[in-house]
Amino acid sequence: NKPRQPAHSPLYAILQDACQYYQQALKNHPARQSAVTYLKNRGLSGAIARDFQLGFAPPGWDNLRKHFNTDELLEKHLLEAGLLAENEESKRRYDRFRDRIIFPIRDSRGRVIGFGGRVLGDDKPKYLNSPETPVFHKSQELYGLFEARSFNRQLTEIIVVEGYMDVIALAQQGLRNAVATLGTSTSGEHIKRLFRVVPRIIFCFDGDNAGRKAAWRALESALEHMKDGLQAQFMFLPEGSDPDVLIRQEGVEAFQARLSQQAYSLSDYFFNQLSEEINLQSLEGKAHLASLAIPLIERIPSTHLRQLMQQKLSQLTEISTQHLHHQSQTAVKQS
Ligand code: UTP
Ligand code: MN
Ligand code: MN
Ligand code: MN
Ligand code: MN
Repeated sequence: NKPRQPAHSPLYAILQDACQYYQQALKNHPARQSAVTYLKNRGLSGAIARDFQLGFAPPGWDNLRKHFNTDELLEKHLLEAGLLAENEESKRRYDRFRDRIIFPIRDSRGRVIGFGGRVLGDDKPKYLNSPETPVFHKSQELYGLFEARSFNRQLTEIIVVEGYMDVIALAQQGLRNAVATLGTSTSGEHIKRLFRVVPRIIFCFDGDNAGRKAAWRALESALEHMKDGLQAQFMFLPEGSDPDVLIRQEGVEAFQARLSQQAYSLSDYFFNQLSEEINLQSLEGKAHLASLAIPLIERIPSTHLRQLMQQKLSQLTEISTQHLHHQSQTAVKQS
């Protein structure tokens, strides 16, 4: 039961107006210099900032509110759009995004539906996102998908990264096909959307524990959407790195070489990861691998990929494919 986005809502126009306000502020607000310097230091050009319509929420509690010059109805909409927040006790309303770089988030049709905001320094939280609103459902949206498709109507692959800055850093280096989930894990809905656009998805998360966990969760979400001819691949980065850091460090060609040579196929990643802490020399290890792998492989629709992964599991465990099936059926009955 996924929440649906309404075709019409007064919030769209308000969000678009706010987007323009933030963008203007990056160009001419008196306090803009810290934001401009921040973006420059991160290697971003004015052209890329324009392509992604980056903005700046100036410091202060009521810049946006004043910009809208609100009456009570408009103010209700600003709250609903997540642009204003309300203090629970005093009921005082204030700008949600203050003294932050603003990343507008667009839906597949290009409408602004929410924002991400990054602090200029090391304050916490580092990123603030719009809350769930009638037009913004985080778990379904992919940051950068609209921009990637506008840039190239014939995309053949999409790179999925963790963050706004990863998407934009790759674009800055000419890789205009990256998207990011919005601080949530990759959902089946994300995968479905991506496979409607391209036959190959490459997951490229941060080189840390959170990134590796995110990769495995992405694999789990991908299983039920795999069809022959579609590919999900998994790229692992050096410890402590992320796509933004790495592409600036080693350059676009080395980064692309990694993508084409070092990304694991779903099936390789699957068996490597599951076997990692299992001793496949012992019968117990083989049985353990089978018990972990069978229910996951069963999520793949009946395709050749599924059959091949069953055969591979059979080779690794020396359990015949018939028995792998049989076991999975009893396992389902028991649960
Ligand atoms: P990361 O934590 O990997 O960002 O979060 P980062 O690489 O350190 O950020 P930079 O490079 O210093 O700017 C990746 C994504 O997770 C979400 C955001 O969507 C972010 O882009 N996130 C992260 C949040 O929502 N809130 C946070 O406080 C941190
Ligand atoms: Mn939506
Ligand atoms: Mn991270
Ligand atoms: Mn990161
Ligand atoms: Mn980063």
